[in-house]
Amino acid sequence: MAEGLVVSKFSKPADLIVTKRNLSTIQHLKDKKIQISTGNKQAVKKSDVIILAVKPFQVAGVLEEIKDELTSAKLFISVVTGVTIAEIDGIIKKKLPMFRAMPNTAIAIQQSMTCLCSQHASIAQVNYVTELFSTVGKVVTIDEELMEAATILGACGTAYAMRYIRANIQGGIEIGFDAATASLIAAQTVKGAADLLLIKGTHPEQEIDKVTTPKGCTIAGLNEMEHQGFSSSLIRGVVTSYRKIAK
Ligand SMILES: NC(=O)c1ccc[n+]([C@@H]2O[C@H](COP(=O)([O-])OP(=O)(O)OC[C@H]3O[C@@H](n4cnc5c(N)ncnc54)[C@H](OP(=O)(O)O)[C@@H]3O)[C@@H](O)[C@H]2O)c1
Repeated sequence: MAEGLVVSKFSKPADLIVTKRNLSTIQHLKDKKIQISTGNKQAVKKSDVIILAVKPFQVAGVLEEIKDELTSAKLFISVVTGVTIAEIDGIIKKKLPMFRAMPNTAIAIQQSMTCLCSQHASIAQVNYVTELFSTVGKVVTIDEELMEAATILGACGTAYAMRYIRANIQGGIEIGFDAATASLIAAQTVKGAADLLLIKGTHPEQEIDKVTTPKGCTIAGLNEMEHQGFSSSLIRGVVTSYRKIAK
């Protein structure tokens, strides 16, 4: 996220402080003039915007450490899965502009899909945080009650897409391509298919109609996939993942 914000020129590297306990894994950020530190409290004190990105079980400890430095003049953004704004409020025991964001790993290449919700934030603050995440991908504002669903579709969705691409690669090898060529064709084809929807705003079925010749190979393969439960297995996978985290 830090690197994305610098690459997109949203932030100057020297304005960013990245904290963690073991700094050896983020020395490369220091080389890029981003500040690195183990001091959460001091970093929060010096900052206007705080992004919390620890594992859910680490949240309470970090919030206890920094809560005295959190004031209503600061913006607080949590990307932690499954921890609600009310739960954060309950630990810090004060109300400040609070955001939950659910980005995905494509944030590393400024191609995240980030779902955002907020509480106690002004329109200007919502616009600022939307702009922040827009520099590293696309942003949609949702109700907080949809954050778990956003985790499944937006963040777990990366893994689902990877499995789909991997299966295509395996099929591609069986019909004659070497692994590297099959990987390139499968990944770029999925990227192009996604861009058709994003850029043209069409429905998937409209794009499918364009490549399914009557009695042709595409419809024969697609129908066989459906006979084997393709769409149904994906929907059931999404719902199973959701049931695992829904409260
Ligand atoms: N990966 C995703 O696609 C994704 C998407 C959306 C949201 N999320 C959420 O984002 C959060 C982080 O995920 P991740 O995959 O980035 O996990 P991660 O790689 O384990 O990162 C957590 C980081 O927190 C640091 N940390 C832990 N305790 C700390 C403390 N007391 N003070 C300072 N730093 C501390 C860890 O470094 P040290 O151990 O060195 O301190 C580590 O760098 C999770 O809640 C996850 O659910 C992840």
